[in-house]
Amino acid sequence: MSGHDTPIPMTSSKCGPLSGVAQVPGDKSISHRSLILGAMAVGETRITGLLEGEDVLDTAKAMRAFGAEVSQHGPGEWSVHGVGVGGFAEPENVIDCGNSGTGVRLIVGAMATQPITATFTGDASLNKRPMGRVTDPIALFGAQAHGRDGGKLPMTIVGAAEPVPVTYTVPMPSAQVKSAVLLAGLNAPGKTVVIEKEATRDHTERMLAGFGAELTVEDTNEGRKITLTGQPELTPQDIAVPRDPSSAAFPVCAAVIVPGSEITVPGVSLNPTRNGLYTTLIEMGADIAFENEREEGGEPVADLRVRASETKGVEVPPERAPSMIDEYPILSVVAALSTGTTVMRGVKELRVKECDRIDAMARGLEACGVTIEEDEDTLIVHGMGQGGVPGGATCKSHLDHRIAMSFMCLGMAAQNPVSVDDGAPIATSFPVFEPLMAALGANVTRDS
Ligand code: S3P
Repeated sequence: MSGHDTPIPMTSSKCGPLSGVAQVPGDKSISHRSLILGAMAVGETRITGLLEGEDVLDTAKAMRAFGAEVSQHGPGEWSVHGVGVGGFAEPENVIDCGNSGTGVRLIVGAMATQPITATFTGDASLNKRPMGRVTDPIALFGAQAHGRDGGKLPMTIVGAAEPVPVTYTVPMPSAQVKSAVLLAGLNAPGKTVVIEKEATRDHTERMLAGFGAELTVEDTNEGRKITLTGQPELTPQDIAVPRDPSSAAFPVCAAVIVPGSEITVPGVSLNPTRNGLYTTLIEMGADIAFENEREEGGEPVADLRVRASETKGVEVPPERAPSMIDEYPILSVVAALSTGTTVMRGVKELRVKECDRIDAMARGLEACGVTIEEDEDTLIVHGMGQGGVPGGATCKSHLDHRIAMSFMCLGMAAQNPVSVDDGAPIATSFPVFEPLMAALGANVTRDS
């Protein structure tokens, strides 16, 4: 099993105003998809701005194992020589996706309609996560899955030798499941239809169209209906990966909660399937200006100018959850430093992320002196106002990068330092978090 052998305990303590420019790394979702679609195209896809976090590097290794030639040419500059739709080779070894649910679920989808067998594993976090959500739909294409403990990794997938196209309604709001079905549909003859009741991030649809697949998207009574014509020849692309709005969330929220701060975060995606946090922060009274709105790498982006603000609690509409699903942990930190109560309903998907994020945030915030209410699908944070959180606790990160970074941001604005037992998972999505936050003026240190 993969994973970090040595935990990295970290502490964040109160700092002066944050200032400067935060150049956050490339988008994780788009980085995974660039490598996978590049591997399924015929010829060379060139990528700039690729996130070189552990999750994406594991996907790069996996694409090599399936026969693509994947090379790094400089920081963030990569090329993929693809093998074409249906051209994957059978890997010689187990595919280790590390901490990455996106990596494993998308790759399982991509190989499920090819006549090969592959075994997947991950770290202690990934091996606990539900995989039935992808093995159910790939079975309809004709693939077989043999997993541990009713559908967990390690798992062997026997790809369908003669796949059939499917029509599938995704039972939970999940871009990973939608994408796994679409990637499987690439090598099935005829039309594969995916229906999602709630719109989730749409990078796979946008990128499939960019690679030349025939794909239509319609809003219907049943939901958003995506129809893909199978067995296209995908044309290699030049991809400029935009910066990750989910990583930008950490310096943005840190600047909101640390009094006197003013920072700029350039090139943040305003893709409506990803920008729910920014809408919510503005409703809470955060001072965020969107400057130089433009298009980069096929995504609408803007430079965010963020000033520290006295924020107030809000009720986050449940239908906004898919567009900010990864941002609830850091939102709960802003909520703790706001006046009034913040109610987050419709968030049960948080329980099956890299860890149970409702439980991890609730326990850590409580340890820092914040009053929390929760049920299966809800997190409620009773705010203590700017500077009002006592802090002074060590919180567990549960192998979850976003939990570790959220508590490090809390430490910047709490009365006493906040520690995490293990900050190592931060490297999965935001390897430059520590130097980037230090350059803005934060005190985040590794404990010896
Ligand atoms: C992702 C989809 C989301 C998100 C994850 C990345 C993707 O997961 O939480 O970090 O790239 O498709 P779900 O599809 O499980 O909601």
